[in-house]
Amino acid sequence: MADKHDEMNRSTTPVDATFHHRLKTMTAPFHDALESTRLAQAMASGGVGRSDYARYLTQLYVVHSVIEPRVRQWAQWADYGIDIERRARLELLRLDLAALGVAEPSTPMQRVWDERWGFPEAVGVMYVLEGSTMGGRFLAQRLLSIVGNDGLPAMRYFSAYGDQTMRMWGEYTHFLNRYAQDATLAEHNRVLLAACALFLRLQEILSGTD
Ligand code: HEM
Repeated sequence: MADKHDEMNRSTTPVDATFHHRLKTMTAPFHDALESTRLAQAMASGGVGRSDYARYLTQLYVVHSVIEPRVRQWAQWADYGIDIERRARLELLRLDLAALGVAEPSTPMQRVWDERWGFPEAVGVMYVLEGSTMGGRFLAQRLLSIVGNDGLPAMRYFSAYGDQTMRMWGEYTHFLNRYAQDATLAEHNRVLLAACALFLRLQEILSGTD
């Protein structure tokens, strides 16, 4: 049974459709900063070369390799009907890198996940990674010309969910709002902080100030 303090802190605001909005609004400046990194700009303009693109995928590979095994440890995903395995994209990054002839990166990435974190932080970092499939849809059109050694555009990662992208995103944002209804205000803040932290860390990584 939840203790009284916990019950009192539980959100009583009608959060349906608003917690995602809050997350989006709060992280928007960080997303904008990420989009304006040189590498992201080059990708968005279609002017990215093969080696820069491979560098982007390598960096994201390392981020996913740290985060994915950590987030999948919580049973709560299934309680909310979220198939967390379906949202794993590490293998797609590995295939894209292999198609570009780039070896699997081995350096572990620091400071994208804190071992003291729990489910609320997992929800926040997955918001950031899942949301990137939205921009991915747009970027994929710009990346068609970067063909791998297998003769296919090396963009399995960016087009991960294909025509299911909107449905997958809708499912995640719906989950965010339902989770927020069950969570305490402290847990809301943990989701928000973890999302902001990952955005900021990605900015350092992608701008090469790592
Ligand atoms: C060149 C780089 C990028 C571009 C051009 C871009 C573009 C976009 C666009 C157009 C959307 C809105 C899509 C829609 O609402 O239909 C979006 C959403 C989003 N992107 Fe990016 N993006 C980029 C990089 C990233 C990266 C690297 C991440 C994180 C790893 C990221 C995380 C997100 C998130 C979380 C959202 C969802 C915002 C929300 O609706 O809550 N983006 N992006």
